[in-house]
Amino acid sequence: MKIIAFLGSPRKDGNTELLLKETSRGIEESGLNVHPFDLNLLNISPCQNCGGCDDTGICVIEDDMVQIHDAIRTADRIILASPIFFSALSAQVKLMIDRCQCIWCEKYLLKKPIPAGPYGRKGLLLLVGGQKKESGLQGIQCAETSAKAFFRTISVPEYKTLSYMGVDAKGAILKHPTALKEAYEAGKKLATPYNYKALS
Ligand SMILES: Cc1cc2nc3c(=O)[nH]c(=O)nc-3n(C[C@H](O)[C@H](O)[C@H](O)COP(=O)(O)O)c2cc1C
Repeated sequence: MKIIAFLGSPRKDGNTELLLKETSRGIEESGLNVHPFDLNLLNISPCQNCGGCDDTGICVIEDDMVQIHDAIRTADRIILASPIFFSALSAQVKLMIDRCQCIWCEKYLLKKPIPAGPYGRKGLLLLVGGQKKESGLQGIQCAETSAKAFFRTISVPEYKTLSYMGVDAKGAILKHPTALKEAYEAGKKLATPYNYKALS
């Protein structure tokens, strides 16, 4: 089973990374590997809406998205981990998502959705925001709306969301009463081929 993970925070050892590490630990203890993409370190240009992928489903820009497109097309499990920045996914994540417009064209214009392998295609969304209450919730909802469109486009019909509000200072997630355990358990379940429904 091929599992990939996108880290969308630029903060080294920040809350999103710590959460993702716990998920990865759960997966690796199940005997599987996670292929990580640290989006902040990659060379990803923004989508130009040039129409270059309309007839082919292939993006004309040749940067690090070439390997990401290939990974997305062949993965069985896809993890998206992002901090909330200005009530949305981080720019690093949004850049990557926008560049999946070629997969949108492939699915909806060329009628060629990414086929599921023997394990199905499942997702996990990890979100961490500093704000609490109504404004914090709006950020989570906004980010999840974009993530949902991403998962739908890349033909991941089923995903679980773990979101944490009021987690702001670097490393604050370590003091959260349930976050690390939930992230670890989500990793374990994500690595289980036939038991994913138990997540929700
Ligand atoms: C540019 C920027 C914008 C932010 N905007 C929001 C926001 O709109 N809502 C929120 O809940 N937290 C916001 N935060 C706080 C981060 O979501 C919070 O610090 C989070 O824990 C960062 O995760 P990280 O340590 O993985 O980078 C913002 C932080 C930065 C740097």
